[in-house]
Amino acid sequence: MQADSAPLTARRNGPLAGRARVPGDKSISIRALILGALAVGETRIGGLLEGEDVINTAKTLRALGAIVERTGLREWLVRGVGVGGFAEPNGALDFGNSGTGCRLMLGAVAGCPITATFDGDASLRKRPMRRVLDPLERIGARMLASTADGRLPLTLAGARDPIPIVFRPPVPSAQLKSAVLIAGLSAPGETVVVVVFHDRAPTEKMLTHFGAQLRVEPERTNGNGDGRRITLTGQPELTPQPIAVPADPSSAAFPLVAGLITPGSDLILDGVMMNPLRTGLFTTLGEMGASIERLDARREGGEDVADLRVRAGALRGIEVPADRAPSMIDEYPVLAVAAAFADGTTVMRGLKELRVKESDRLAATADLLRANGVTVDIAGDDLIVHGKGRAAGGGVVTTHMDHRIAMAAIVLGLASERPVQIDDGSFIATSFPGFVELMRGLGADLS
Ligand code: S3P
Repeated sequence: MQADSAPLTARRNGPLAGRARVPGDKSISIRALILGALAVGETRIGGLLEGEDVINTAKTLRALGAIVERTGLREWLVRGVGVGGFAEPNGALDFGNSGTGCRLMLGAVAGCPITATFDGDASLRKRPMRRVLDPLERIGARMLASTADGRLPLTLAGARDPIPIVFRPPVPSAQLKSAVLIAGLSAPGETVVVVVFHDRAPTEKMLTHFGAQLRVEPERTNGNGDGRRITLTGQPELTPQPIAVPADPSSAAFPLVAGLITPGSDLILDGVMMNPLRTGLFTTLGEMGASIERLDARREGGEDVADLRVRAGALRGIEVPADRAPSMIDEYPVLAVAAAFADGTTVMRGLKELRVKESDRLAATADLLRANGVTVDIAGDDLIVHGKGRAAGGGVVTTHMDHRIAMAAIVLGLASERPVQIDDGSFIATSFPGFVELMRGLGADLS
């Protein structure tokens, strides 16, 4: 436990009920700020996630010369410097806990003739950056210094004459793909990224929104017939566009699963983004027998959204295929909690990428369940939860500076027989400021 850590305990306390809106989508918020900073003129963003990951990205953009101002509650204005227009910062850029902010900004700096030092907290310092540095070095950036294996803190010299590349990401990471596309904005000619996974695609969508020319075509790849070839025409002038950030489905996942497993619950989560590239959890829970009704499905700010009515009920164990992982990669800890309350075994396949999140989430998820009396196996990259329709609870969970492990453990504690304590709830603010208050508003006992 850290000196300034904030332990938190969740206790069972009757049904959850009411209506709530979770904060804005983290992926869209971070991209809105970065592309706003690379556009010429003023970008207005409504519904921005005011979590620490996003605020840290905003601070780094200011250090690089963009104007980033809060104009009201979740209302922000960015005055951009244009593609390739960042100024050299005075000190290190501190991304705190945010892998997305850091990796996307490595791409943005790689396309500018400046040198910048990237740093973060102890969790981010452990995460792999080599996967991003490899393609950025091909574009012409140079890593001047780092600790072993390209980890933070690292110093990157951006390319003076960026080169357009063809890149095939070796791992299914939206952050990696996005970093290369953002760096490719500065290169003349066409930057191509070929992906063989169905990932969240907010970067492509937002680049198009800002007027960049981007083609997406099917690409036949050995054995993996359904790849996509993304071709970006470099050196565009990005034109500011208003952005309305929808509620984050990855954050909605926590009150949603809490509602499913706490007997008698009936609640509504408003305006949740329903982009099919992000709704793998809802599909999976539906297969488990969950009652999740999509009310008032509509378009808001260019995205499909709906109000989700969630009612508690029996769940059954299922097998979750590996190719679904990119569409719900952040949701496995809380899905594993739902699986503990299901009857029967749930097998979640292909979770290798979970090992390199804010913590080793595969191990941390298994540990959090085991500490609370749930039987769990890890077999290779698969997580297997033996659901008994209930959990004993009573454990103290080590959260490893990982917001999603913290929130998943709290959700477990709301429905388990004995309370669940987490060692540190402070990291929840990276993605879900106001989580404790929102959950209390639905009837949760958190102290
Ligand atoms: C994100 C991509 C995912 C996800 C992260 C947000 C993004 O990471 O875990 O929270 O905004 O691109 P990977 O792309 O590394 O899987």
